[in-house]
Amino acid sequence: MSIMRNEAALRLLDERFGMRAKVGVVLGSGLGGFADEMEVLGSIGYDEVPGLPRSTVSGHAGRLLLGKVGDTAVVVMQGRVHYYEGYSMKDVTAGVRLLADWGVEELIVTNAAGGVSEGMSVGDLMLISDHINLFPENPLRGGNDESEGPRFPDMSMAYDKCLRERAKEVARCEGFELREGVYLGWSGPSFETPAEYRMARVIGADAVGMSTVPEVIVARHRGMRVLGLSTITNCAFGSGGEAQVNSHEDVQRAAAEAAGRLASVIKGVVEKNEG
Ligand code: HPA
Repeated sequence: MSIMRNEAALRLLDERFGMRAKVGVVLGSGLGGFADEMEVLGSIGYDEVPGLPRSTVSGHAGRLLLGKVGDTAVVVMQGRVHYYEGYSMKDVTAGVRLLADWGVEELIVTNAAGGVSEGMSVGDLMLISDHINLFPENPLRGGNDESEGPRFPDMSMAYDKCLRERAKEVARCEGFELREGVYLGWSGPSFETPAEYRMARVIGADAVGMSTVPEVIVARHRGMRVLGLSTITNCAFGSGGEAQVNSHEDVQRAAAEAAGRLASVIKGVVEKNEG
């Protein structure tokens, strides 16, 4: 069985927001600050939307916002749910499926991630050029509705080149560095052991995290253009190669510190839409 359109949720969004948006943004842990950059026109708690699961993690607000950046309407998922919370892949991607059904064509996904490649520093922003999916399950497992997307979607260009170029240009204009690299997603919630971080590096990851990949797979299946941005909130190894102790508090603190720069990249990318 494929997953049905969530008609009740679509009606609610239309009623409460009164207009649709073609650009969607998913804000990860401690990265909710982008909402301050836009003129907020409406807000709906996830708990009000039929079929949308609620995030159980601190740092994830759990609401849909409709706003304007310049003349562009943007719908924001402030907070996401994760596979490690016990949700199914269907739940984890319910928000993105809803946005796709609602007409969103361009999706900007953000996350907090651990840096594993040489030269990564806490506070860096990384443009995701590609990903490695090590979640135990693919969100497209099960029946496929050909009207939504192909059974075997291509993933050779998961992260849109044009949007990446736009993001780089924004960062150049704003005067800060934007790294680019491969994001490896797996389930968590335990942070990686030093051996796992090393493995991630060996198999080609620049950063690792516990989200994003399922959402991007669904977004690509639905034909959305995707831009992915990671905030490097911690690094696998210290300058002498020693293992680092990780905590959610440190991740949130580092995310909050970088949130302003992240928000300006997103805003700049959306504004360039209008040109
Ligand atoms: N590992 C996994 N997920 C993360 C990390 C990490 O080091 N940092 C932020 N999210």
